[in-house]
Amino acid sequence: MSSEWTIGVVGGSGVYAIDGLEDPEWIAIDTPWGAPSDELLTGRIEGVKFVFLPRHGRGHRISPSELNARANIDALKRAGCTDVISLSAIGSLQEHLPPGKFVVVDQFVDRTFARVKSFFGTGCVAHVSVADPVCPRLSAMLAAAGRAVGADIHEGATQLVMEGPQFSTRAESRLYRQWGCDVIGMTAMPEAKLAREAELPYAVVGMVTDYDSWREGEGHVEVDEVIAQLIANSGLAKQLVVEFARSLPAERTPSPIDTALDVALMTAPEKRD
Ligand code: ADE
Repeated sequence: MSSEWTIGVVGGSGVYAIDGLEDPEWIAIDTPWGAPSDELLTGRIEGVKFVFLPRHGRGHRISPSELNARANIDALKRAGCTDVISLSAIGSLQEHLPPGKFVVVDQFVDRTFARVKSFFGTGCVAHVSVADPVCPRLSAMLAAAGRAVGADIHEGATQLVMEGPQFSTRAESRLYRQWGCDVIGMTAMPEAKLAREAELPYAVVGMVTDYDSWREGEGHVEVDEVIAQLIANSGLAKQLVVEFARSLPAERTPSPIDTALDVALMTAPEKRD
């Protein structure tokens, strides 16, 4: 089995490209689940294979509820990715996570409800564990790369994933804080769950763009604030990816996530479609 890394990068709002790609090539990949958000941009950074997917499509055409997360994850798998990282805009639910902070998320509360969340069902049933939904190895390497390029990194945070596309009410924003959530976004679920079903180690760097709507006596999040902060963050995010590529060990040793399905399938082999 190959021990080469191939890193999938899912770029969220404001991250529509990555820097330093040698021999860049956009490739179209179709999947049994339908079309992914866009073509995938392949190439090498510092000798490491990368596959970039703009989550919302180039030009930001696809809303969070409309994303075909199954097609996106499957396309990355078919493109040969061994590991997947997500770079996304997030809102902050905590005073100590101001706009500009880069947050390496390690837990989620999934409050999405209008999305297909599994590759399994209708003939083949599996229950993977998402108790620990991100890959600790990738997360640690991303945090180290972020620090090396001067990003203000916070490691370990719980992300509330909401359906959207509207932002939260003030009452919802306050409630999520009471639940112990630190940051909020609209896209990491079901992506993280599907990555686990696809046996792809997955990690998230969330770039804080706003304080959502919980702060007493303050305004509420608006898109122009999110975009301005994203523009400010995007150079650093791209540097983080290049530094991450540089820091990867030459050989990829296996991850326990590579075999997550070994203990997850319920349907008897002779009954699987
Ligand atoms: N993405 C960026 N800011 C957000 C917020 N406040 N709520 C949900 N998603 C976001």
